[in-house]
Amino acid sequence: MAPNTNLYSFISRFLTCFNSNNMFLRQKIQPKKHIPVSQRLSVSDFSVPGSPMSVLSDLSTSQIATNLHIFTFAELKMVTNGFCPSNLLGGGGFGQVYKGFIDENAIPGLTPQKVAVKVLDLDGMQGHMEWLAEVVFLGQLSHPHLVKLIGYCCEDEHRLLVYEYMTLGSLDKKLFNSYNTPLPWLTRIKVALGAARGLCFLHEEQKPIIYRDFKTSNILLDDDYHAKLSDFGLATDGPEGDESHLSLSHVMGTQGYTAPEYITTGHLTTMCDVYSFGVVLLELLTGKKNMDKAVCARERDIVMWARPMLKDAHKVDPIVDPRLDGKFSYRGAKKIAALAYQCLSHHPKSRPNMASVVRTLEAAAELDHDIIGEFVYSVTDGFHKDGQHWRVEELEEDKEREEKEGGERRTRSPRQRRKMEVR
Ligand SMILES: Nc1ncnc2c1ncn2[C@@H]1O[C@H](COP(=O)(O)OP(=O)(O)O)[C@@H](O)[C@H]1O
Ligand SMILES: [Mg+2]
Repeated sequence: MAPNTNLYSFISRFLTCFNSNNMFLRQKIQPKKHIPVSQRLSVSDFSVPGSPMSVLSDLSTSQIATNLHIFTFAELKMVTNGFCPSNLLGGGGFGQVYKGFIDENAIPGLTPQKVAVKVLDLDGMQGHMEWLAEVVFLGQLSHPHLVKLIGYCCEDEHRLLVYEYMTLGSLDKKLFNSYNTPLPWLTRIKVALGAARGLCFLHEEQKPIIYRDFKTSNILLDDDYHAKLSDFGLATDGPEGDESHLSLSHVMGTQGYTAPEYITTGHLTTMCDVYSFGVVLLELLTGKKNMDKAVCARERDIVMWARPMLKDAHKVDPIVDPRLDGKFSYRGAKKIAALAYQCLSHHPKSRPNMASVVRTLEAAAELDHDIIGEFVYSVTDGFHKDGQHWRVEELEEDKEREEKEGGERRTRSPRQRRKMEVR
């Protein structure tokens, strides 16, 4: 039921008219009795394109108000040190994100903590709608792999969101920045698995949610590389009842991550998220950013470039991120490549669902015993315990023996072979 149609909402809106500072709305309101907790509210339940006042009162009378804190703009200005440029964490389509600190003395009732504050640009209705989608979804969902929304601000033309601060920032910065040490293989699997679990949770909701903007800059990492999905601006409820898809006239998402059938027909399903997941998986495998403008046109579209090699187990090794310097599980890489190939299928029905993706990634995470890079080349430095040099031939003999025994072994890169020969 639309919350703006009930008596409670009417009274609160009436009271709001008499309070220019919105103090009434800043208090936490008891949850509405008539909405069952299990019945999640949708963005369409809120006054659209209503005035900020009516949206605020609708929000404040919904169960969302019990989960979120309502901030004033002045408070968030203080929290971010006046939106100081040195606190800028990132920015995308509709706003800027600043690091901030909630001080218990300044904002009573909240635990002192680091936060990230997103300031949305109100470009027509789109900025407001993205803000509302984030408040409505993140205000009701709670999962270890979704970023926690602490509160929001809706004052005049200001629309802000306050999230828990994720220490390592977004995955794109960790994966594609060549100044950083490369992300180790198992960390990549851990991140993929965390993000997959977040997406799986959304798809398996009683009322499934399509996230619609799955990409590395929307995957945030804590200091232990625990991944959480953020930026729910484009999220939407999936098709209901007998409908197989949403039919949308405006295709929204990010170029390079959007499923081909969504671009050509406007048909949106949870399988579009699975396609985007395939793109990110490919980025984790290859270390290449899809549609990177800095890359020559021929190799810019990594899906086109990698697709022929993904299903052929013998061709996987050359596409794995060279920055890993051979320190990855060969069997794991084959699994990841095959999974990415399935996710990137042109036929949505041939893609796996996210529960199946999670299972495959869990299996890939187990394949760690054939990651031999550091142990072989750095720790023992190419010497036997008795001080004798290794010989390359010796390693080749080992390899042959293993292959005869039916075991699999990671192919060494030419660079590693050279390293061996020098020592
Ligand atoms: N909670 C957070 N903790 C740390 N960094 C964040 C947080 N939220 C966002 N960021 C940074 O800001 C960038 C943009 O945030 P996002 O919510 O994706 O906004 P946009 O809608 O502009 O894409 C992210 O890619 C990330 O680098
Ligand atoms: Mg984003």
